[in-house]
Amino acid sequence: MERITNIVNAKVWLKGEIIDAGISISGDKIAKIGKESNLLKAEKVFDVGGRIVLPGFIDVHTHLRDFKLSYKEDFLSGTSAAVAGGFTLVLDMPNNKPPTTNSSVIKARIEKAKKNIYCDVGFYATPKSPEHVRELISAGCIAIKIYMAKSLDGEKYSTKKEIYDLIKETSSLGIMLSIHAEDLRMIKRFNDSPSAYLHAKTHPIKAEENAISIALEAAKKAHGKINICHVSTLGGLIMIKKAKKEGVDVTCEATPHHSILTNKVFEKFGRVAIVEPPLRSKKHTEAILKGILDEDVDILATDHAPHTLEEKERAHPGFPGLETALPVFFTLVKDGLLPLDKIINAFTIKPAKRFSLTHAGEICAGKVANFTIIDLKSEGKIDQSKFFSKAKFSPFNGMVTKARVYATFIRGKEVFLNGEIVSEKGVGKVITW
Ligand code: DOR
Ligand code: ZN
Ligand code: ZN
Repeated sequence: MERITNIVNAKVWLKGEIIDAGISISGDKIAKIGKESNLLKAEKVFDVGGRIVLPGFIDVHTHLRDFKLSYKEDFLSGTSAAVAGGFTLVLDMPNNKPPTTNSSVIKARIEKAKKNIYCDVGFYATPKSPEHVRELISAGCIAIKIYMAKSLDGEKYSTKKEIYDLIKETSSLGIMLSIHAEDLRMIKRFNDSPSAYLHAKTHPIKAEENAISIALEAAKKAHGKINICHVSTLGGLIMIKKAKKEGVDVTCEATPHHSILTNKVFEKFGRVAIVEPPLRSKKHTEAILKGILDEDVDILATDHAPHTLEEKERAHPGFPGLETALPVFFTLVKDGLLPLDKIINAFTIKPAKRFSLTHAGEICAGKVANFTIIDLKSEGKIDQSKFFSKAKFSPFNGMVTKARVYATFIRGKEVFLNGEIVSEKGVGKVITW
């Protein structure tokens, strides 16, 4: 017999509604949801004090790094940040050292991760050419990722034809293809360290719009499916919306930073706020926020991209996002700017369906017992010095928040509780295709 744990005194997100209920967990699975009097007889009872129990949040866009980039982040620190931020499953990006571009790297990442993760993890891979997709899947990747404006290992996916050939392959195998859409010909890279202003100027709006347009045309022609990463422009969002209407099987992600931070923060945060695609003007953040509201944005994702502070001074793009995303978005909910259900769906059921993460995404009997338990009555401030990530900086630092992650359950166990990691490492599982 599996060990039974009951979660009681809870408000549970069930089929799009909050209901007063309890949950019985058997081993690592959800066994029953119902009135407390009807739950199974349990060895352990976990009282959540009337807080909200949500399906485990999923981040389809995390850079966990590790291996030769362990100085930036490793599996342990990255998944600590994940559970502290309320995430129960993260998909790891392939731009690593060594890059995740062949079977042996995927297998090595899986082997090392197994013993060192606090939450579930899946690995993206980038094929050197389309005919390699099959072997990457056999090695255990969960999805395919390409960068239109850079090459990790000699591969090139920037023209419509190159992307078309890849979509044909990924879609025939059923696996999701995520695309970083910036047009190589319209961006400029520097040897010295550009300011945040100059960096943004040299990653113009047109570079994103053009790349999205190329990717959409390729998907349309191939009758295949794609996911556009971190949309940051009004024009890009409009094109995606139009393509959906025309029947193209496309979804898109948005990040917390592209939803509410404008290039005004460059003044205060300087190069810490450098990210690709860059922060834009208010017209664009408003469009992204409205896109979340109207569900033109399908998926919310962090683009957690840790670096050292010294690298940030050299203009490395990105910053950690796992520990700020939920406090930021739930604060927007409390401020009446976004409805609760859109945030929950865009972090749970929608990414689960899009990426075929069948064990995740909703609370129902038989699914894995991964939960994100939030406190919507907790006021605080984002404090970068408290991050579990190795990267202790953020352009959200100092922001006043009105919600926090209270606890994170991974496979039936509380792993993060009230500010602390309370479990052994290795509780998470690697998810493969
Ligand atoms: O800001 C970014 N950081 N954009 C990317 O595309 C890569 C990422 C990273 O890996 O640091
Ligand atoms: Zn990207
Ligand atoms: Zn990224």
